[in-house]
Amino acid sequence: MTETNGAAAPSTTQFGAPAVSDRNSLSIGSNGPLLLHDVHLVETLASFNRERVPERNPHAKGAGAFGTFETTEDVSRFTKAAMFQPGAKVDMLARFSTVAGEQGSPDTWRDVRGFSLKFYTPEGNYDLVGNNTPVFFVRDPMKFPHFIRSQKRLPSSGLRSADMQWDFWTQNPESAHQVTYLMGERGLPKTWRHMNGYGSHTYMWINAAGEKFWVKYHFHTNQGMEFLSNEEAEQLAGSDAEYHRRDLFDAIARGENPSWELSVQVMPYEDAKTYRYNPFDLTKVWSHRDYPLIKVGTMTLNRNPENFFAQIEQAAFAPSNTVPGIGVSPDKMLLGRVFAYADAQRARIGTNYQQLPVNKPIVASSNNYTFDGNMTFEHSGGAPVYAPNSFGRPWSDETGPVSDGWEADGELVRSAYALHAEDDDFGQAGTLVREVFDDAQREQFVETVAGALMGIEHDVVLQNAFQYWKNVDKVIGDRIQAAVHAGKGDPQVGLDTEAVMAGV
Ligand code: HEM
Repeated sequence: MTETNGAAAPSTTQFGAPAVSDRNSLSIGSNGPLLLHDVHLVETLASFNRERVPERNPHAKGAGAFGTFETTEDVSRFTKAAMFQPGAKVDMLARFSTVAGEQGSPDTWRDVRGFSLKFYTPEGNYDLVGNNTPVFFVRDPMKFPHFIRSQKRLPSSGLRSADMQWDFWTQNPESAHQVTYLMGERGLPKTWRHMNGYGSHTYMWINAAGEKFWVKYHFHTNQGMEFLSNEEAEQLAGSDAEYHRRDLFDAIARGENPSWELSVQVMPYEDAKTYRYNPFDLTKVWSHRDYPLIKVGTMTLNRNPENFFAQIEQAAFAPSNTVPGIGVSPDKMLLGRVFAYADAQRARIGTNYQQLPVNKPIVASSNNYTFDGNMTFEHSGGAPVYAPNSFGRPWSDETGPVSDGWEADGELVRSAYALHAEDDDFGQAGTLVREVFDDAQREQFVETVAGALMGIEHDVVLQNAFQYWKNVDKVIGDRIQAAVHAGKGDPQVGLDTEAVMAGV
């Protein structure tokens, strides 16, 4: 910010005329009433009343930065996307966020973190809107609004509620894998720079020969994964609610540009039919032994926003923004999201949000037949407003099977996914607790879950939560139950609390 000492040039009204005073309203005499024709006062108050746009419903609290993505390896055998050809470099924007908290909520509340990326490619914008975990809580988009409401606030008191959270999770046992991640270290990343990011869903890649592959994205942080303890996070929530936002901004201002390596897991198209897990189920990961990581390139954040509202608050990330060589998949959650984001942004920002500089692609985008509406400034002059036309305005005419499509069953049903050989709700969560977490992480995990369960008021929800964790892993479930009873000073009949606490 430039400092001046009072003798600055005058400011202007919104239409460019000099504004007479930013300090004194126009009044009749020094003590007199104010006048409606004080245009600058009216403009100032009216504009203030319209400063806010609605916050994002989930992921309201966040921040971000600009940077570049460079493809350092050759993955052209899997995708023809221009941004993933060897040596390609594109500008990009990243936004990190918490899910449940509102604007102004502490960055260090335990939560999943959003990991949103917008790549300004020569073929249009490509958005990858993921999280810092490879899986999600539910696998049908019908459940998503219910899930988010259960994590936000009670309709009566406006308070957050452990009962709502655990009631939702235990009523939807497919959440177990993601809740295990959430209650583990990933629920409290030290900073956004120190966390990995995942596309989470299965996407499609299509190469120049038209061959299709199923792909999962993994962004591994070059800063190393680091986490906060429950105590540190709690303390920071009180002392510096903007801890993560500040860390990213300050690091980039110091020239410490954070970077991530992108790798992908690639599944041959035909494998999807017989893989031991349904590869489109968002609550599951693919074993790295079955589909090892293949390196693609590097993302580096190197430029802070100049204006938070214009460039971060108005940024609109959407899984519907894909480019040739990249497609979606039969993942029902992803298909639901393809509708949801642009719709949210039309409501949150306005019909023509895509014309704002932060959302605008670097290639021409006004050559389409959606037009007019609030705040239009991109336009095609007097060109025909209908297609096809006889006056040379381009129009598209693809017919027949689409290049990024797949085969689907014929009958319309409401149903869960067909199960593959090893599909169940608790198996991968159990593996995470038993085989990925070490002893210290398991210890911390039991303490964190027990602490979270202590807030539950309804016994039915608490009992369901004990059963949920026993389904994930009997030993861990018993330890959690014992820890809760011990915490409440209420040793449970028939359970040797001390032995269970010690993991015996
Ligand atoms: C059917 C399921 C889902 C629906 C309907 C949904 C809907 C939404 C909506 C409406 C927003 C606000 C968008 C805006 O106002 O700009 C949002 C934000 C977000 N969602 Fe989802 N979501 C779903 C699942 C997911 C999943 C599975 C992930 C991660 C893998 C995810 C990650 C995010 C992120 C990171 C943001 C913040 C975007 C930003 O930084 O601006 N969501 N979601």
